[in-house]
Amino acid sequence: MSNQKMFGFKVLLLILPCLWISDAATDTLTQGDKLNSSDSLVSQNGAVTLGFRLLQYGETWDDKRAGYYLAMWFSELESSPPIWLANRDDPIADNSGVLIIDNTGFKITHDGGDPIQLFSLHSTPTTTNSSNIKLVLQDSGNLVLQDADSKGENRILWQSFDYPTDTFLPGMKLGVSHGRSWSLTSWFTGSIPAPGSFTLEWDPEGERLIVRLKERVLWTSGNSFENIPPSEPQNMNYNFSHVSNVDEQYLYYTLLMDDSTREEKRKNARLILLYDGSLQLGSGEFIFSSKSCAGASTQNGCERWKGPKCRSNGDQYEIRSITPTDMNSVNYSLLGNTGLSIYDCKDICWKDCQCFGVKEDRVLGCQFLSGPYVQGALDGTSYQVIIRHRSRLKNWIWILISIAMTLLITVLLGVLFCLRRRRRIRMEDIDRPFTEYFSISSSSTFVSIILLPVENAGFFGSEMQLPLPKNPAFSAGRRMIETNVEEKEIENYSLNGLSMSVMDPR
Ligand SMILES: *[C@@H]1O[C@H](CO)[C@@H](O)[C@H](O)[C@H]1NC(C)=O
Ligand SMILES: *[C@@H]1O[C@H](CO)[C@@H](O)[C@H](O)[C@H]1NC(C)=O
Ligand SMILES: *[C@@H]1O[C@H](CO)[C@@H](O)[C@H](O)[C@H]1NC(C)=O
Ligand SMILES: *[C@@H]1O[C@H](CO)[C@@H](O)[C@H](O)[C@H]1NC(C)=O
Repeated sequence: MSNQKMFGFKVLLLILPCLWISDAATDTLTQGDKLNSSDSLVSQNGAVTLGFRLLQYGETWDDKRAGYYLAMWFSELESSPPIWLANRDDPIADNSGVLIIDNTGFKITHDGGDPIQLFSLHSTPTTTNSSNIKLVLQDSGNLVLQDADSKGENRILWQSFDYPTDTFLPGMKLGVSHGRSWSLTSWFTGSIPAPGSFTLEWDPEGERLIVRLKERVLWTSGNSFENIPPSEPQNMNYNFSHVSNVDEQYLYYTLLMDDSTREEKRKNARLILLYDGSLQLGSGEFIFSSKSCAGASTQNGCERWKGPKCRSNGDQYEIRSITPTDMNSVNYSLLGNTGLSIYDCKDICWKDCQCFGVKEDRVLGCQFLSGPYVQGALDGTSYQVIIRHRSRLKNWIWILISIAMTLLITVLLGVLFCLRRRRRIRMEDIDRPFTEYFSISSSSTFVSIILLPVENAGFFGSEMQLPLPKNPAFSAGRRMIETNVEEKEIENYSLNGLSMSVMDPR
């Protein structure tokens, strides 16, 4: 073989694999490489993909109905929400986005706007030979920008694990380490990935996970993670651990796997802070659902909502059908504010003593209930209403009051009976059934007036009947029967008359 031929053969050998690689997906970009919206990076084992994705918002938000994002997703779950976004705050209007590594770092360029700089070499104190930097998508879901130092060892300049969105992956940290801190922030709505109302944080002092709605602590894991339910204890394969020293306080987790670990728990493991504040595992199970933390509950890690004096223990949000009855019943002042989700609105309403509730189906902006309304109408509108609950102590007070009432009534009736009996003994020969009847009905009117507030408080069932006066009525009845020939007729009549008199005062 001539030298020239040999050279040609060598070049061909060098080019062939390159051709093959450029056809297949790669996990690495080096300086000068570009990734446009029809390309993608795929991690070495194929589990994770990085590329541009169009996300539909489902409504108009920030004058847009959709946006392009540089996104990372589990390759086999392409249609489910991404596990990471590079530009959640800064969507690109069209498919012109290109990820570029150059001698200034790496960035996304796009038509009609400044480039989105993800990392700038000028921001690092260490000197870097920019011709050595490369961007690698790891199987763990970490996108790493690295360079090789003079000894040829890889050095991490930037990694996506340091910029988490709403997804906590094995290998990520929550907390603080050497001055850097990490927390998750939920999406704004189920389909708008901008930062939303909830955060997931590591509380180093309490050694627990915390979900916050703005400043409000909504839920905690407890410091031995007792509020994370082991739905299948033998298969609870999220092993949470934390590191605590002077420089670092953070949480991470590893996956425990054995032969019994189900397939969906082996793959695509992750913990997601949903847009409504709930925590969900990759397998679809919930660690907790924020619906259960509606204000009053302290069960399963929920924290009672604190607020101004007008909110007391036991108050909580419940869904009610509402019909406003006044022009000022509804407060529209924050209706147009598309920077507020219904969860923000609930937080705002709770802090405002003039506010009774929040309209349920509003996705963006708030519609508050702030005046007279009727509850329960079939054609009403669905509102999250702050329902005031009487505390257990107050219930006991009502029970004591009603026992006292019953005793009082019994004594009164007893006294009445004795008095009447004495009078009857005195005037035994005079028979006046109608006068007797009249005085019985007025005493039962008196009884039902006393009981009214108790009934209206909902303490007894609304169908509660007043007890029929016993001894006096019967003795009077007997007296009447003795003196009347048409005994059946009169008995019926007097009973009917009694129940009528019960209804009267209502
Ligand atoms: C992306 O780049 C490839 C080649 O580099 C090109 O064929 C393709 O049209 C580009 N796609 C877009 C959306 O620009
Ligand atoms: C950067 O690295 C390349 C290749 O390793 C080398 O040729 C070049 O001289 C280096 N530049 C500097 C400024 O060190
Ligand atoms: C959980 O992780 C910690 C720290 O990595 C480890 O020491 C512990 O043995 C793990 N637990 C189980 C049950 O494997
Ligand atoms: C409407 O709601 C906002 C926010 O809670 C509050 O600041 C404002 O005072 C309310 N306006 C009226 C008229 O109630």
